[in-house]
Amino acid sequence: MSIEVAVIPAAGRGTRMRPATRVVPKALLTVIDRPAIQYAVEEAARAGATEAIVVVDLDAGHLIAQHFSLEGPLPGLEDVRVRPVVQEEPLGLGHAVAEAAHMVAGRPFFCLLSDNLVRPGHDVLPALADGSRDGEVSVVCLRPLDDDMLSKYGVVATGSDATEGYVELTGAVEKPGPEKAPSRLGLVGRYLFTPEIFGLLEDAEPGVGGEIQLTDAIDALGRKGRLRGWVAPTDLLDTGTPEGLLHASIVLGRHRYGDIVDDAV
Ligand code: G1P
Repeated sequence: MSIEVAVIPAAGRGTRMRPATRVVPKALLTVIDRPAIQYAVEEAARAGATEAIVVVDLDAGHLIAQHFSLEGPLPGLEDVRVRPVVQEEPLGLGHAVAEAAHMVAGRPFFCLLSDNLVRPGHDVLPALADGSRDGEVSVVCLRPLDDDMLSKYGVVATGSDATEGYVELTGAVEKPGPEKAPSRLGLVGRYLFTPEIFGLLEDAEPGVGGEIQLTDAIDALGRKGRLRGWVAPTDLLDTGTPEGLLHASIVLGRHRYGDIVDDAV
């Protein structure tokens, strides 16, 4: 089955990217020739989505909306309807995703965190859709993490060995650190959710950092036996830090401009 809708949270203020994000929203920071969020919308479109719901904040949301609508649709995105929804208060990633509930309207959906970009030629959304039993079960994208990353990512609890790349999951913990991590497999910002996630988000109490955490609703899916993971063979590029953004720019720049990058240094 094809997944027609993608939710892309883009309300983060990018505190790790100050001073670049004092005025410009994090999702509009440029990687080569386009803002980070455009890569996420393009990726969703490649996976067949025709609707991208972008969750924006009150301050800068209109800039993101304008990026996709000014002077008509962007080249290559003519068949994608980009729809902003405002998260009025910064109450967490889980809260941001919940703001899209009425627009998702009961359909299974991709969720993409636009901080993380896939490497060219290494899309992960099709594998999530293939593992979802026709959109009946949620599938999250995973990567093996080094110990120092276990306090920066959500980490899952596994209930089976990976078969054909898929693994049954029994829960998830947000940023547990190496001592408390239930495994070494982390959530890397690509998800396929069934609409039942919205009920679980509604029930979620504030978690780590006092925020409504998406990972806590993912944990609830796992506890219900309604969650699978897929271990991506390649890492994603994290644009959420200065060094990550530089790395992503080099990888994508090399792909786009061949040896210019190598010759330049
Ligand atoms: C968020 C999620 C976390 C996930 C990470 C992926 O954290 O809360 O579970 O592992 O994205 O990048 P953030 O990076 O917003 O702190």
